[in-house]
Amino acid sequence: MKVAVTGAAGQIGYSLLFRLASGSLLGPDRPIELRLLEIEPALKALEGVVMELDDCAFPGLAGVEIGSDPEKIFDGVNLALLVGARPRGPGMERGDLLEANGAIFTAQGKALNSVAADDIRIGVTGNPANTNALIAMSNAPDIPQERFSALTRLDHNRAISQLARKTGAPVTDVKHMTIWGNHSATQYPDVFHAEVGGRNAAEVVDDQSWIENDFIPTVAKRGAAIIEARGSSSAASAASATIDAARDWLLGSATDDWVSMAVVSDGSYDVPEGLISSFPVTTSAGDWTIVQGLDIDDFSRVRIDASTAELAEERDAVRELGLI
Ligand code: NAD
Ligand code: LMR
Repeated sequence: MKVAVTGAAGQIGYSLLFRLASGSLLGPDRPIELRLLEIEPALKALEGVVMELDDCAFPGLAGVEIGSDPEKIFDGVNLALLVGARPRGPGMERGDLLEANGAIFTAQGKALNSVAADDIRIGVTGNPANTNALIAMSNAPDIPQERFSALTRLDHNRAISQLARKTGAPVTDVKHMTIWGNHSATQYPDVFHAEVGGRNAAEVVDDQSWIENDFIPTVAKRGAAIIEARGSSSAASAASATIDAARDWLLGSATDDWVSMAVVSDGSYDVPEGLISSFPVTTSAGDWTIVQGLDIDDFSRVRIDASTAELAEERDAVRELGLI
């Protein structure tokens, strides 16, 4: 399998590449070839990372290619993990960030459209992940829309961990967690459909104030808390979630559980059609299906609506910039 990683010399890349090469994605017996994309000034640093990959002598690493031309790097790739994005700098407004990243994701969408393998799957980690995925998808008309997703698995994992800690259960006992909406502070981590040890999580917790004033803001603002503490954004956990998401997508989610993925909306749960929004999904052999039939009460409804309204605003902004 040929796996492309963009922003490969960045922080997330420094963790992600070694996990990929050591077999965390497909298992140790299925070799992968890495195709690493960076901007020209970062290629020297990337060469150093490749030296380190060599030095690990990973049995499952079949080859590594690096470069700054997406048409060359994406040629024939089966999985593209789009991590590289322009972070917000001093004085930059949200619109500037959307514009800077828009240029990256239009070019990468077009390149994937023309040179990726027929079975390509594309996972977007670089922020603003949902809207970057929308831009790439809109610029790749020949790739089926369901081949694009944006990462909310980190939020999903954060939510599982917080709930496990609160209830004293191991993380493996927490099932059916859902992140709805945008990978941003408006996201809605939903415990009302989750289970702990087979029992409804909200009933096990039995503390509405904790759900509303502790759990939801802790999960939704975790990215900012890590930036505050570490001085830079989450990297190893983001890499780990990027692998979890891709592995489950390609190999299938557990039969007694579901996962959160931001995928193109078909209008399920009244999320406007065409937005890349996070849903509960089951996955199997590279396909995903939105879990249907969950009851959404008023508490959840307003929160899902607020996050999807933000996604619609981002979509309108990139549409105005002519990026989609
Ligand atoms: P970083 O700044 O350390 O690395 C980003 C890399 O991308 C840099 O090496 C840069 O040179 C490269 N890059 C920039 N433009 C590029 C282009 N056009 N083509 C290829 N590479 C390009 O950042 P990081 O910490 O690795 O984070 C990467 C992104 O992931 C950021 O946008 C961050 O906000 C996001 N992120 C998302 C999640 C999530 O859960 N979705 C979690 C953590 C971080
Ligand atoms: C995260 O969730 O850790 C990242 O998206 C970083 C951020 O800006 O929140």
